[in-house]
Amino acid sequence: MLKSVILAAGKGTRMKSETPKVLHTIFDKTLLGYVVDAVNQTGLADENFVIVGHQAERVEEFIKENYENARTVLQSPQLGTGHAVSMVLPYLNNFDGEVIILCGDTPLITSDTLKEFVEYHKTTKSDLTVISAIFDNPANYGRILRDTAGKVNGIVEEKDATQEEKKIKEINAGIYCLNWAKVKSAFSELKTNNAQGEYYLTDILKWGNEHGLNVNAYILKDNTEIYGINSKANLAQAAKFLNQRVINKHLANGVTIIDPSTTWISPETEIEPDTVIYPSTYIEGENKIGKYCKIGPFAHLRGGVVLDDYVKIGNFVEVKKAHIKSHTNACHLTYIGDAEVGSNVNVGAGTITANYNPLTKEKSQTIIEDNVKIGSNSVLVAPVKVEEGTNIGALSVITKDIPSWALAITRAPLRIIENWVKKQIK
Ligand code: UD1
Ligand code: CA
Repeated sequence: MLKSVILAAGKGTRMKSETPKVLHTIFDKTLLGYVVDAVNQTGLADENFVIVGHQAERVEEFIKENYENARTVLQSPQLGTGHAVSMVLPYLNNFDGEVIILCGDTPLITSDTLKEFVEYHKTTKSDLTVISAIFDNPANYGRILRDTAGKVNGIVEEKDATQEEKKIKEINAGIYCLNWAKVKSAFSELKTNNAQGEYYLTDILKWGNEHGLNVNAYILKDNTEIYGINSKANLAQAAKFLNQRVINKHLANGVTIIDPSTTWISPETEIEPDTVIYPSTYIEGENKIGKYCKIGPFAHLRGGVVLDDYVKIGNFVEVKKAHIKSHTNACHLTYIGDAEVGSNVNVGAGTITANYNPLTKEKSQTIIEDNVKIGSNSVLVAPVKVEEGTNIGALSVITKDIPSWALAITRAPLRIIENWVKKQIK
């Protein structure tokens, strides 16, 4: 089993936020969460070290609450990426497996790529492998230096690079795999004689070459995987990249998405083929959507939603924590939350499941059985159950359970006063 070190001590000044950079979110999951999950999903690592510094307490708390196999190590002050990794030396004194190093602010890295990368490291019998990428505009990245035979020599940071070196398009993605026993002593030999006066992690490549180690670079296939977040603009762009990836997966699986550019689908959403997603639909959290469903336009699924086959969720319909069975329609202006809705139910326009009591702060369930018809603008005040086949008259407020096959209606009778208007006009 290998260990991972995830660098997350940096300040993130350009986010202009009181929230630490790595705790910003995409689809409600933190940037750091994406990175730890990607490592965990490889199934290769048994322990993750997260290097914290800026707003350390908040990042520590996040890791403690969410990851049993991760621990935080404080880096204070922050003297550079090489210094950051050296913080784990006391914990890995006798470790002789591989260590992978990643950054907490590159959330789009995938477990598949990490697996391939480690595999490449092993098959090339490498001691030190770095992920590189070819960028048309390599500005601000460290550049990979190779000798005339193509062998990786080292990395030069943009700020230290000569004009010639700045033309190199192969960049350092900032992800490394090390044979720990062979490379660990590099960290006590790093120097700060560079433009930024920092201990550069990148210097371990040159060190490796000088010490006769086998140093290699694995070239990335999809450059978006190492897209780094430094600003809110980057955060928005990363969300788009991630969304596009999710949408492409569903399109390839046979889901129809009319307008990918206005559709948002969280990575944890499963959708079966032949379902159609209409424009401006926002799907967040974990959801399971069956076959032949129609969702949107302008629908909002907020997580915990299970839709069986042939369900229709129309415009301005919001659904949260609900299981809706097959052939049920909620076509317009509806909120369904904390609910179980049977099969072949018609949910009229403007129907609301009132699941939340703001005084007690309690949420309660609404159960709607098969074949129920709910008239427009009705409110079902949870906890409440509407049994099979019942009709709810339009504009009803349902505060009690309704037995099967009944009509429930709370509307005042319609009154018609003839010529009433004429009498008002003098
Ligand atoms: C680094 C690489 C560069 C590479 C780029 C890829 C070095 C010297 N340079 O540059 O070659 O192209 O990443 O994105 O490594 N951090 C700490 N403690 C520190 C300093 C940084 O934990 O003392 C963390 C930061 O929070 C961040 C990561 O390390 O997550 C990278 O640091 P950053 O300063 O962004 O490095 P770059 O200048 O981008
Ligand atoms: Ca960076």
